Amino acid sequence: MMNSRITAIGTYVPQRKLTNADLEGMVDTSHEWIVQRTGIHERRIAERDEFTSDLCISAVRNLIFRYNKTIEDVDFIIVCTTTPDFPFPTVSCLIQAHFHIQSAGAIDISAACAGFSYGLIMAHSLIASGLHKKVLVIAGETLSKITDYSDRTTCILFGDAAGAVLVEADDQYEGFVSHHVGSEGKGGIHIYRTGLANKLGDQKLLDNSCIVQNGREVFRWVMRTIPDAIHHMMNNSSQTLNDVDWFIPHSANMRLIEPLCEKLEFPLERTLHSLVEFGNTSSSTIPLSLDQGIRSGKISSGDHALLYGFGAGLVHAGVLVRLQLDSVVNEPLPL
Ligand code: UT7
Repeated sequence: MMNSRITAIGTYVPQRKLTNADLEGMVDTSHEWIVQRTGIHERRIAERDEFTSDLCISAVRNLIFRYNKTIEDVDFIIVCTTTPDFPFPTVSCLIQAHFHIQSAGAIDISAACAGFSYGLIMAHSLIASGLHKKVLVIAGETLSKITDYSDRTTCILFGDAAGAVLVEADDQYEGFVSHHVGSEGKGGIHIYRTGLANKLGDQKLLDNSCIVQNGREVFRWVMRTIPDAIHHMMNNSSQTLNDVDWFIPHSANMRLIEPLCEKLEFPLERTLHSLVEFGNTSSSTIPLSLDQGIRSGKISSGDHALLYGFGAGLVHAGVLVRLQLDSVVNEPLPL
């Protein structure tokens, strides 16, 4: 079986900030409530004419610039998103056309906040099988376009961002150690984009489709499911949680990450998240946190990182990776 590893990473967030103070002027909320209940201080919001593919393109450009990578020979593109520019064509085809990538497979996958983990697992599988050699995995979201800014229970949470990694065949280095996936469709009603609501007789129109969430129920499901899933994943690997240098859970809420760490008996200091500055950016939170860990110098070559995504579906996926990215050629500009 061919090994693979993540060789390069790039990220992008839109310039425009939406702070808690801004939200105080939009709905009945307060900076204190938001920080105490979520840990979020601000998020980035795409311009009206800026779409998921634009964010993904910028993240890939950032990757190319920093690692001096050639991507015309990428042979598979996976875009993880719940907010594609169009139902079709896919964002992955827009990426392929933009970068003049030759003869690549291109597919979007929809697994909400678990999307990036699923994308990595698929990339690793395509390479391990010997079918492909160089896979571009991009997670990109413009959640602001489907957020109801009159609903204080959701509009305080979400932001826009994109992250991209290259996964390449490597006959020496075992960059993927283990993975775990799962789903619980009967809980799908607890977080959905209206459209499903239309099917269920809700009054909201598909054209104005937006995110609806019962945060309490999602919270309960995460606490009931994810610690066991992580133990299951570690039991199937050669490593233990003590060998994990960095835990990178989906950045949904600080009040979720803390009890997760407690239940796993994993030190919070070795956990990376992107909540404070960027909020919940769904599939993009994990690559954003990973990149922040790399940019800040916290993550070293050879470190084990446990990435675990969970969310709408309900669906979850995790992967234990051993990180050894290529050398950075150009220092990244700050986000
Ligand atoms: O990325 C997908 C995965 N999603 C998640 O993992 C979400 C997990 N859940 C959560 O993050 C939290 O449940 C939330 C942050 C969404 C909500 O926090 P909570 O502590 O569960 O609050 P709640 O929904 O139980 O609401 C408590 C109170 C309610 O008032 P009453 O009924 O007690 O009078 C809400 O109306 O807080 C009120 N409230 C707010 N107050 C001020 C809800 N949103 C706000 C707000 N500002 N923005």
